Amino acid sequence: MLITPDEKKKSEAHAVALNHNLFIVWNPEYNLGIPILDEHHRGIITTINSLHFGIQQNYIKNMLMPIVDMIYDYTQVHFQTEEDFFEKIGFPEAKQHTELHRKLSAELSSIGRKSVLDRDSYHFIEFLKRWWIDHICKEDLVHKNYLLNHPHIHELQAKAGQTGKH
Ligand SMILES: [Fe+2]
Ligand SMILES: [Fe+2]
Repeated sequence: MLITPDEKKKSEAHAVALNHNLFIVWNPEYNLGIPILDEHHRGIITTINSLHFGIQQNYIKNMLMPIVDMIYDYTQVHFQTEEDFFEKIGFPEAKQHTELHRKLSAELSSIGRKSVLDRDSYHFIEFLKRWWIDHICKEDLVHKNYLLNHPHIHELQAKAGQTGKH
């Protein structure tokens, strides 16, 4: 299909406008190069953006709660996938990294729903933004190279995909 220069300009302007409204804009530099984990990170950021959108639109609590629950559930799937990789490849810093996961999970369940009930969700999403950007850009870099250099990484990823852990 042929795209006219006008249409191209229009779609670029649309993309800029959409990004402008996003709470967290995905940066290609966030990619670890491990597709299943990148897909999770992207998905979680999208869900955080959905929560932000809902807060801006003054969604009622009953509409925000399922998004908070989705962030929690998606996070659990992601952490479990990373931890399964650690176990299979014998990642030496698995214990410390798993501890970070546990800490966030506890915080998510203690402050996530409460923030919506107390109408203090901005505080919660600011916390989520900081946590996830840090997780992706700093903490996950620790295991990135270890995973990428593992001879069976492709096989392990395919298995994780088959068992629905994505
Ligand atoms: Fe991660
Ligand atoms: Fe992690």
